[in-house]
Amino acid sequence: VRYWAVVPAAGIGSRMASDRPKQYLPLQHKTVIEHSLQHLLSHERIEAVYIPLAEHDGYWPDLRISRHPKIKTLLGGKERADSVLNTLTAMADVAGDQDWVLVHDAARPCLRKQSVHLLLDTLSGESRGGILANPVNDTIKKVANEDEILETVDRQQLWQAQTPQMFRFGLLRDSLQRALAAGVNITDEASAVEWAGHSAKVVCGPSDNIKITRAEDLPLAEFILSRQNE
Ligand code: C5P
Repeated sequence: VRYWAVVPAAGIGSRMASDRPKQYLPLQHKTVIEHSLQHLLSHERIEAVYIPLAEHDGYWPDLRISRHPKIKTLLGGKERADSVLNTLTAMADVAGDQDWVLVHDAARPCLRKQSVHLLLDTLSGESRGGILANPVNDTIKKVANEDEILETVDRQQLWQAQTPQMFRFGLLRDSLQRALAAGVNITDEASAVEWAGHSAKVVCGPSDNIKITRAEDLPLAEFILSRQNE
């Protein structure tokens, strides 16, 4: 059984209001995506890291990391799930159904090395897989008509999904294929696996594995990384 990684980076980051996609914004002497890739590239068990990119991406070729021997790039799709499915389809000649694939957001730069080890150690004995996640701390409201509270959701059962999300290659490819064909809105790998009727696990990781979504997330990531490097 082998391990592979997929780092979707084909998004244009429309919520960011910046001059470039968020994965290419500067962060601690590098770009966001270079941090996101770091511990996947250095992990000895991960054979290769596949990166779906947007068409005409002019930023990627300028990065030094783009010439890393473990990296393979290809064309992404319309939504994140399309980008991941395109990649898994392209990997079919190298990856076996029982191999593991770790999918990690290009926009999640604060992933710790220990979290990658924790995920592999916890899930490698499983038949399907699971995700890095964190219990929700805030009280969560369900809201309709923009500002009307419908109810308070019991937070005891709520977890925030992070990445990497680690699943058996064949199971993830088939689940994504079926879910997308059925028109289901898929925002992470686990939602496709759940929709296909398979159970998946959460692995509790640190809450500082944040995704860069808005401009205010960048200084926060800067702070988290500086603390990790202390
Ligand atoms: O937009 P969001 O924050 O959900 O994007 C999460 C990740 O998915 C980002 O790394 C982004 O580049 C990637 N993505 C992609 N293909 C798309 C849309 C998003 O690879 N069509």
